[in-house]
Amino acid sequence: MKHFINLKDISSKDLRKILIDAKKRKYARKKLNNLEIDKEASLKGKLLIQMFEKSSLRTRLSFYLAIRQLGGSALTLRPDELHLSKGGESIEDTAKILSNFGDVFMLRTDKDEKLEEFKKYLSIPIINGLSPSSHPTQILSDIFTVEEIKKKPISKLNVTWIGDSNNVLNSLIAASIKFAFKLTIGCPKKYQPKKSIMNYIKKNKNKISIYNDPKRAVKKADVIFSDKVISMNDKVNKKKKLKDFKNFKINKSLMKLCPKAIFLHCLPRGNEVDEKVFSSNQSKVWTQALNRVHVQKSILLYCFGKLR
Ligand code: CP
Ligand code: NVA
Repeated sequence: MKHFINLKDISSKDLRKILIDAKKRKYARKKLNNLEIDKEASLKGKLLIQMFEKSSLRTRLSFYLAIRQLGGSALTLRPDELHLSKGGESIEDTAKILSNFGDVFMLRTDKDEKLEEFKKYLSIPIINGLSPSSHPTQILSDIFTVEEIKKKPISKLNVTWIGDSNNVLNSLIAASIKFAFKLTIGCPKKYQPKKSIMNYIKKNKNKISIYNDPKRAVKKADVIFSDKVISMNDKVNKKKKLKDFKNFKINKSLMKLCPKAIFLHCLPRGNEVDEKVFSSNQSKVWTQALNRVHVQKSILLYCFGKLR
């Protein structure tokens, strides 16, 4: 049994194995409908329990389809309906019940510590479906999308992030270390990655370029990633932050500086990207969202020690 909490805690070899498995699985079920089960039904009889302390559309749906296609079932718990959220039950007891009734637990949480606390008491795997500090299932799936579209290993590509230094970027930074690709970040000076993240980059001898000029950051890019300027539960002066990012909007003239680049966005979007870019041929956001099903199936199999 393995947990999937942070990319930085998973070996490059295992992350690559997940991507290879996902590619084979995606190909093998080309002609199947969403709810048709894969031939092997590898997780037949298994129950995924998922809980969202923050909003979700894609993660919720893609995990549901992922476990169903593997032959299992999913149950989504509403945190406001549990004793836990009202202080009426501990994480320890909740975790014991989840372990007895379910086979894998996926949590989207507003506190990173909760993932660790659950992990301590669960006897089933836990998957991080987004936390304040990371979004590992999203980024692993995005690496899959980049390699699928660009038909090259990501280590041979220049990846650029234009946006806030948030959970999604933290996972992209971890991925750049695990998969050894060049990462350039374009953001206002005030919104650069935190010291702890910069130390993690240095400790791993990774080179990440940071520019406070978006034009400079997209030069030579094969992929442009972005995300909302204001993340869920971001306790900032929203007006001020949006104003600070005004020059970092991804528009046609910026994309013209990297004509071969694809545009990716984990969604939902805000006004950090111009509609013309979002709906252009360079944008691959819908393929990106759908690929989460395939990669999360392989993440589930990794957790169960069942990767082919
Ligand atoms: N990208 C992503 O995680 O989407 P949701 O918040 O809708 O799950
Ligand atoms: N950074 C965003 C990602 C949403 C999928 C957030 O945390 O709100």
